[in-house]
Amino acid sequence: MPTDLLGREYETFPAPGPLQQHGPARVIAMCNQKGGVGKTTSSINLAGALSQYGRRVLIVDLDPQGAATVGLGINANVVDNTIYTALFTPRMDVHEVIRHTEFENLDIIPANIDLSAAEVQLVTEVGREQILAGVLRQIRYEYDVIIIDCQPSLGLLTVNALTAADGVIIPVAAEFFALRGVALLMQSIEKVQSRINPGLEVYGVLVTMYTRTLHCEEVLQRIYEAFREKVFHTVISRSIKLPDATVAAAPITIYAPGHKTSKEYREVARELVARGVVA
Ligand SMILES: Nc1ncnc2c1ncn2[C@@H]1O[C@H](COP(=O)(O)OP(=O)(O)OP(=O)(O)O)[C@@H](O)[C@H]1O
Ligand SMILES: [Mg+2]
Repeated sequence: MPTDLLGREYETFPAPGPLQQHGPARVIAMCNQKGGVGKTTSSINLAGALSQYGRRVLIVDLDPQGAATVGLGINANVVDNTIYTALFTPRMDVHEVIRHTEFENLDIIPANIDLSAAEVQLVTEVGREQILAGVLRQIRYEYDVIIIDCQPSLGLLTVNALTAADGVIIPVAAEFFALRGVALLMQSIEKVQSRINPGLEVYGVLVTMYTRTLHCEEVLQRIYEAFREKVFHTVISRSIKLPDATVAAAPITIYAPGHKTSKEYREVARELVARGVVA
């Protein structure tokens, strides 16, 4: 039996077999209001790994920076129909905003800077927390996984993501201030659970940007003390190959399938299937 970096023994996660039928999707919010912890990188690469396992994957870019959009090779400035359009056009057919990427089984609802107006506009909308949930309900049966790449904030867009989601993955960078703000995030999750979406789960904490140093070991231990068994066995190493893959506008699992980081993201995908999060 292998042991993880925390010394926990675990069963290896087998490569998932093909699905006989598709959907309904599990909706996963990739969420942490701390910036630069690996939300977008993990959204893209987890989506890449799952799509290569034959899962139909949709990424919802819910960040006005549009990093996931650009990271999948779509020019965010020339797309008219974005998640913003879908959120603010009642009864719109969501298919009009879905873009197929050049990768099999991997679609995206793009975002661009238009979305920066959403936070203010949402305030006066009817049912303002549930608009994204309504949008995704239309297409739930067409995908196996929907991953929402959240922006680094706990505003109304993120509340929409938490309301639309079945569960949350919290990427946490293995660095000194790793847990700063996490209590606030947990409070937001609990509020959404108790007021709007009682089924919302925390699927797990994904440690990213890990290096084999005493410092990272200590930080990992802290994260474990805070989240216990919620910490995924698989940890994502710090690697320069990830920014490279972003420049190449492809998931690393497709751009450099043999790379260590690709293996790690495939392992997270397997762990999610083994935990029953994803079909
Ligand atoms: N494991 C890693 N090793 C090295 N660099 C990484 C790793 N993960 C992410 N990065 C890089 O760190 C930067 C931040 O990552 P990313 O954009 O995924 O974080 P984020 O949480 O989505 O940020 P934001 O809060 O701004 O949306 C990016 O330049 C990315 O390429
Ligand atoms: Mg991001």
